[in-house]
Amino acid sequence: MRNLTRILPVDADGLATAAALLRAGWLVAFPTETVYGLGGSALDEAAVARIFAAKGRPAEDPLIVHLADVAELPRVTTALPVSVTLLAEAFWPGPLTLIVPRGPDIPLSVTAGRPTVAVRIPAHPVARALLREVGLPIAAPSANRFGYTSPTTAAHVLADLDGRIDAILDGGPTMIGVESTVLDLTTPIPTLLRPGGISLEALRDRLGSVLVGQRQPAGSGAGLASPGLLERHYAPVTPLWFVRGSPEAMQIWLRERVCAELALGHRVGLLVPDEDAAALADLEVDCEPLGPAGDVSQIARHLYAALRALDQRQPTLILARDLGAIGLALAIRDRLTRAAAGRVVELEPMLGT
Ligand code: TXA
Ligand code: MG
Repeated sequence: MRNLTRILPVDADGLATAAALLRAGWLVAFPTETVYGLGGSALDEAAVARIFAAKGRPAEDPLIVHLADVAELPRVTTALPVSVTLLAEAFWPGPLTLIVPRGPDIPLSVTAGRPTVAVRIPAHPVARALLREVGLPIAAPSANRFGYTSPTTAAHVLADLDGRIDAILDGGPTMIGVESTVLDLTTPIPTLLRPGGISLEALRDRLGSVLVGQRQPAGSGAGLASPGLLERHYAPVTPLWFVRGSPEAMQIWLRERVCAELALGHRVGLLVPDEDAAALADLEVDCEPLGPAGDVSQIARHLYAALRALDQRQPTLILARDLGAIGLALAIRDRLTRAAAGRVVELEPMLGT
């Protein structure tokens, strides 16, 4: 049995305690600008094993290694493609994870046996201060139980991992709210493995062409470019339906579906922008407004907390709608598509997406 998880403040003492725990091979969750990470020393096999055990994560799913500074890159990778320098200048510290060749000091358990390693330099001041103080590369997946919604507050981490990890640095809610963009630089043309905090448009501006990795059907096991491309990830317990179409068509569909479910005596949770919440306010639904449809940053920031809140109230089903594919909206679409695990309703052909 483990001790209870300690909540640490983000002052000098809290950071020193967190750093000492990490150096000793224990696990500390900490805020990044995207979501909370579950940190352990990337150079310590036992710590890495504890991360997989705490999350209930399959050993085939590799971890992201976090660094304080680009000067530390040679500790994790043997080769630095020019594109790394280019991208580092533009986007680091920040919500971009790069897949590069694995260096010899990184245990194979971190990379799930792959010759490549995922690396990121986070921008959150607490993450940066912690990484500087520890002086080690820190492996950190999102600090949630495997397959469920990522945490954007210390309370979310505690709800998922209390008693399974040693401490949580409580730095308040995270700023971006969805995970980092994962970009593979070991393919002939850089390949987007997961849309996230840095937009595809911004990457294409810098690199020219970027391919988009294809999502894998659930249960398709080994040999995936990135296990994180699997469907049924980021999923709530409540069945979620994700609708795509024009704003008008989606609103009509939402109203019809809500009415049909209410007629069956079901309870409906709505995960929609403010405009839809207002338009459907006459219906008896449980709603978590996310912000205005035009403000995808705000919606991304609120998305996981809203999803968790709705899920906890145990409606019969949750209805969510698409926000397009520009900027952070692509990451939101990706997470909601996976949360829906196949329950996606296409109202009309999507043009240009
Ligand atoms: O924003 C984030 O990226 C957060 C914060 C804590 O940094 N971390 C995060 O980690 O989301 P995680 O483990 O939940 O997602 C990492 C993703 C997974 O989809 C994993 O399969 C992929 O990165 N990945 C890691 N190493 C890889 C590798 N060598 N090749 C391909 N994909 C890799
Ligand atoms: Mg995750």
